[in-house]
Amino acid sequence: QITDLRAREILDSRGRPTLAVAVSSGSRHATATVPSGASTGRNEACERRDGDPARYGGAGVLGAVESVNTEVRHLLIARHWTGLAEIDLAMVELDGTADRSRLGANAIVGVSMAVARLLADAEKVPLWSWLHVPGGRPRLPVPHFNVLNGGAHARTGLDFQEFMIAPLAAASLPEAIRTGAEVYAALQALLTERGYTVGLGDEGGFAPDVTRPEDALQLLLRAIEDAGYPAGQDGIAIALDPAASQFRQADGTYLVNGRRHSSSDLVQRYVEMVRDFPIWSIEDGMAEDDLAGWRELTAELGDRIQLVGDDNFVTNPARIARGAGLGVANAALIKLNQVGTVTETLEAIEICREHRYGQMISHRSGETTDDFIADLAVGTGCGQLKAGAPARGERVAKYNRLLEIAADAPELPYGIPETAFTVRLG
Ligand code: PGA
Ligand code: ZN
Repeated sequence: QITDLRAREILDSRGRPTLAVAVSSGSRHATATVPSGASTGRNEACERRDGDPARYGGAGVLGAVESVNTEVRHLLIARHWTGLAEIDLAMVELDGTADRSRLGANAIVGVSMAVARLLADAEKVPLWSWLHVPGGRPRLPVPHFNVLNGGAHARTGLDFQEFMIAPLAAASLPEAIRTGAEVYAALQALLTERGYTVGLGDEGGFAPDVTRPEDALQLLLRAIEDAGYPAGQDGIAIALDPAASQFRQADGTYLVNGRRHSSSDLVQRYVEMVRDFPIWSIEDGMAEDDLAGWRELTAELGDRIQLVGDDNFVTNPARIARGAGLGVANAALIKLNQVGTVTETLEAIEICREHRYGQMISHRSGETTDDFIADLAVGTGCGQLKAGAPARGERVAKYNRLLEIAADAPELPYGIPETAFTVRLG
């Protein structure tokens, strides 16, 4: 039984307003804070903002805060609930819109996360062991460190959004964290040596003034070698999130470092990148509404590397299932606030498992120090987490939580489960 529920307006890592939610059951208390994206899919659950230009340029969330403190509070308090699924469904029904725009998806997801924490606490288990999916065995995920930022997260001339390193062959989670931080430091030294500025993007990666994705990949490869690691599946592999919806033009072409590409041209450019660099995963290689491009990309590369759908799937179980039927991607990005509740997020992971699609749990570019997604990645056993660079408080909060879980539960295996996935690496 929930005895108290309150929300407040706080700041996210970009200095924009978001929600903090606190929920109580008698003497038990739990909190959650809500992330926010910048390169969002069109079909994401709706983040409700006030639109009052006198506050935060219209980005205030007092309306969403108010809906938690009045309607949702009234709904949840002093009633008997059977579990989180029932609570999540009741909030979605109370909202009554298809996109959660009335109460605000940012309001609902914050309550859902806080209640999940409360329920885990009531059962006296760590959050990760409470967050499970049928058949999922808890394990420590491969961290995907976004060390070089472009696109909507950096505003340089680099069109691709994320260049990540994935220590696939690390012996343990602490080793993976260490190698990530070492490569990050090696990349900083390399960029300085080559005369690049080392300003940071929104996710904590460096934002050098390079424009060709291949040049960024070359820098990354060199940094991996400088740090003393083999590049590739036997060491550190590269994962990309070009976030192609952001550089698709109105005429359907893609503009990359000033060059126009048809969908097929772009697919061929990826094929060459995969040939020339140790890339093991590409997320949003095509724009969210380019179905033909997505199918072509999947046909070309889908049996060799991971292809992750983000803007097109928006963590929506029905969209992932439809994509699987159409030969789109072979994995899905999983973001709590994209679909809107913890229950639906777990459903999305289940759907992925049914279709043998990989799952990568993800932060947002606007984050808080909330570390919920670290527990989500471990509990569901999906094997992959992307949470930005191994630097900056809101990013390392997630990696440090993984280290804490690894210390508390040394029996947990590390890495991507082979069984959950159709791609054969190597
Ligand atoms: P966002 O980007 O959080 O800014 O939407 C993350 C991503 O595209 O994966
Ligand atoms: Zn993405």
